[in-house]
Amino acid sequence: MKLAFIALAAVVSCTFAQPELDFLSDEYIEQLNSKNLPWKAGRNFERDTSLYNIQRLLSVGTINPPSEFETIFHEDDGKDLPEEFDARKQWSKCESIKEIRDQSGCGSCWGCMSYPLPRCNPSCKTLYDAPTCKKECDKGSPLKYEEDKHYAKQAYRIMSKVERQIQLEIIKNGPVVASFTVYADFIHYLSGVYKFDGESKLLGGHAVRIIGWGIENGTYPYWLVSNSWNERWGDQGLFKIWRGKNECGIEEEITAGLPR
Ligand SMILES: *[C@@H]1O[C@H](CO)[C@@H](O)[C@H](O)[C@H]1NC(C)=O
Repeated sequence: MKLAFIALAAVVSCTFAQPELDFLSDEYIEQLNSKNLPWKAGRNFERDTSLYNIQRLLSVGTINPPSEFETIFHEDDGKDLPEEFDARKQWSKCESIKEIRDQSGCGSCWGCMSYPLPRCNPSCKTLYDAPTCKKECDKGSPLKYEEDKHYAKQAYRIMSKVERQIQLEIIKNGPVVASFTVYADFIHYLSGVYKFDGESKLLGGHAVRIIGWGIENGTYPYWLVSNSWNERWGDQGLFKIWRGKNECGIEEEITAGLPR
């Protein structure tokens, strides 16, 4: 009887433990905008989005690259690097650098496969598990699977928390993958240079693509980052985050690869 009661209590608390979250309220967004942060907040997610749906876009822990990845070091002569760099301009014929992905209602930010899931962010109503990996081409493709595989011939880590090493890698080989900690303030990012407000609650970890950097208004150094929550999220799908201070761990786990 006691056990049954505990089980029932657990079910009840799971069913009712999805209250409307105050971090999705207009008041919360207004409060962020009154904090004098170097970025502006606004509504990306509909007010009735559940915490569960948002956390589905994130991972529970930090996202660590496989331990067998070697850490590479770029020779650094200490010369000034460009103040601004945008991989989309540097390699303007490369369409995939410009692409803003939409991971749908699926925790697949780390994935590079084009899952056949509908584009729906930032307001996905349906949640999906990452589909199992099928080793065949899409129906109707004239190509053989083995011939159409694209992958890196080498994947590696960049030295942790060394800003110039990340920059040297991007200048030489293009965008890198980074992971960082997402707090509730971040989901409301609209423009400017994101910096944790210091008190919003932790939601999870997230993997993104750093495509360049710059200094906003000559004062705020930032990384230019491509998110995977559709171009309706943030600054047309992109965000800028404080650079050089390992903000939210963004400079900690950088991985990159070279195409075949
Ligand atoms: C940079 O200046 C523009 C125009 O005044 C302003 O809208 C923006 O918020 C500023 N950026 C930061 C990070 O303060």
